[in-house]
Amino acid sequence: MSAIRRVDGELWMEGVRLAEVAKRFGTPCYVYSRAAIETEWHAFDRALAGTDHLVCYAVKANSNLAVLGILARLGSGFDIVSGGELARVLAAGGRADRVIFSGVGKSEEEIRAALAAGIRCFNVESEPELERLNSVAGSLGRAAPVSLRVNPDVDARTHPYISTGLKGNKFGIAHDRALAAYDLAASLPHLEVTGIDCHIGSQILDMAPLEEALERVLELAAAVVARGIPIRHVDLGGGLGIRYREEETALDIGRWCATVARRLAGSGFSLVLEPGRAVVGNAGVLLSRVEYLKLDKGKRFAIVDASMSELIRPALYEAWHEIVPLAELGRAAATYDVVGPVCESSDVLGTDRSLAIAPGDGVAILSAGAYGMVMSSNYNSRPRPCEVMVDGARAVEVRPRESVASLYAGESTLD
Ligand code: LLP
Repeated sequence: MSAIRRVDGELWMEGVRLAEVAKRFGTPCYVYSRAAIETEWHAFDRALAGTDHLVCYAVKANSNLAVLGILARLGSGFDIVSGGELARVLAAGGRADRVIFSGVGKSEEEIRAALAAGIRCFNVESEPELERLNSVAGSLGRAAPVSLRVNPDVDARTHPYISTGLKGNKFGIAHDRALAAYDLAASLPHLEVTGIDCHIGSQILDMAPLEEALERVLELAAAVVARGIPIRHVDLGGGLGIRYREEETALDIGRWCATVARRLAGSGFSLVLEPGRAVVGNAGVLLSRVEYLKLDKGKRFAIVDASMSELIRPALYEAWHEIVPLAELGRAAATYDVVGPVCESSDVLGTDRSLAIAPGDGVAILSAGAYGMVMSSNYNSRPRPCEVMVDGARAVEVRPRESVASLYAGESTLD
């Protein structure tokens, strides 16, 4: 669902005019739509109505407490990758028994906190992690529920930085070592093997690699069960791609869920999915303001007050985000590179964009709900932007803009 629409030249999110949000809260500013988040989460949950399942939202995509709280109220599960994310989920009212813990480098402290909270499952990514989990669980007198993340060696055909399912990748246990790893897990006294999982990459727009991974994981699951190790759930990760530009077609959530449901029918396995981007990506925008229009050697730059510090995706992955004016004011259009104030040539938000803008105008950088604020930094001592949740006709500030003083509050000079 697109969270925004244009009415009489003005951009709206639900019942709120975005120019009003920019004026009230300032720019840069992240704005999210509660209705859009709920709609996308329900798209998964409803499509799986006939299947024993848990949708575990991947917290890394957007971990603002308001986002997590909205999903917790829907009964969502959560996929976390750190103790910090666990704390956020619990603070937002999420249930620990619906949390799964992914990631290649879980520390002893994180494992202890997750065991104490009583999470649903650890997605284990290596043999040494099995040993560590066993020893920490033993020291607490508990059994740790585990699933092994297997690397199905499937090419997700997405950007190499966000592709994780190929051999030679740091993620998961190699396909040909998976059965031995299951034997090891089953032999360790403080582990309880409950599942199998995979995640082959992110922003996947083609269903074929996902289907290929599904088949490989089910084949392995059957082999594990045949060894007398009972697996109860299959977790297929996240990765469903969204539409960033008009010519793209998002991966159809309903179609993917129906495919998986059909394939799992009668298997006795329950299903876990870990979508992040598909739930929040198109539910958020980053509002910014034009500072200057600059002409240099025939090239036009629109210098705006958002930058790679607030949204790093274009700089890091050459990702495309649509950029549109908040109001159509009948100005003449020109082609600009839209750039931020940060002292890096890579501080570009969009190249060759046709925009009808003037200094002082508000713009919205679209599809910024996932991997936007969570990947922001204070580079160039820029305070992080505020975050606003739109809910019907309300716009609620769910995280205030950082102050400059807070950036160095914990620092000190030498005597
Ligand atoms: N599960 C696991 C184990 C993951 O590693 C990820 C994402 C997800 C689920 C959620 O994937 P999603 O449904 O959001 O595609 N920063 C990059 C994306 C990195 C994704 C990392 N893992 C970007 O901005 O495109």
